[in-house]
Amino acid sequence: MSALILALDATSRNEALAIAESTARYIDAIKIGYPLVLGAGLSVAGEIAALGVPVIADFKVADIPNTNTLICDSVFQAGCSAVICHAFPGSDSLAACVGSAHDHGGECFVVCEMSHPGGAEWFSGGVAESFCMMAAGAGADGIIAPATRPARVAALRELIGTRKIYSPGVGAQGASPEDVKELVDGIIVGRAIYGAADPAAAAAEYSRRCR
Ligand code: C5P
Repeated sequence: MSALILALDATSRNEALAIAESTARYIDAIKIGYPLVLGAGLSVAGEIAALGVPVIADFKVADIPNTNTLICDSVFQAGCSAVICHAFPGSDSLAACVGSAHDHGGECFVVCEMSHPGGAEWFSGGVAESFCMMAAGAGADGIIAPATRPARVAALRELIGTRKIYSPGVGAQGASPEDVKELVDGIIVGRAIYGAADPAAAAAEYSRRCR
């Protein structure tokens, strides 16, 4: 049983808000990132949050500690409840993201392994495990792990313990909720919901399949 997180990568504010409103009752959070924010501005985060849906900022933050702090502070001031960051810039950069999140009463999630085919090139073979240990060491609230490779999610679950795992790759990238719903805390679905002819119906169906 897992929560359902909508990856709202629509690029227009009006379309995004219409989809957010129509799907809100079926989803537990909305993940936004560059596709929407570059089109609509960061203020769209507050507009979505005002619908009563927690907003996760997927900016895959990956810079020096001071810049990470500036980015994350902006994200939380805009109304987001969580931020997603990368681990590869190092433990000090990661600590800056976790620190900003916790200073604002929010959460920080760390990308451990990407869900697309190329993600297997670099993240497997120990790197994802190292990132997972860094996430735990930094006090992050959870990690991002690929629904497209359930065995990898299971391996990372062994390391991350009871911290949360959010998992993208369901729908357009080929994975099913049933592949990982017993392993993770949240399943992230993007195009299969926001690109559907009836996003609310698609969200309702994914919600049913995640439970
Ligand atoms: O449309 P789709 O369901 O493939 O969207 C997946 C979302 O999750 C996108 O916003 C993508 O950027 C994000 N994501 C991912 N794999 C990761 C981390 C984030 O697909 N490892």
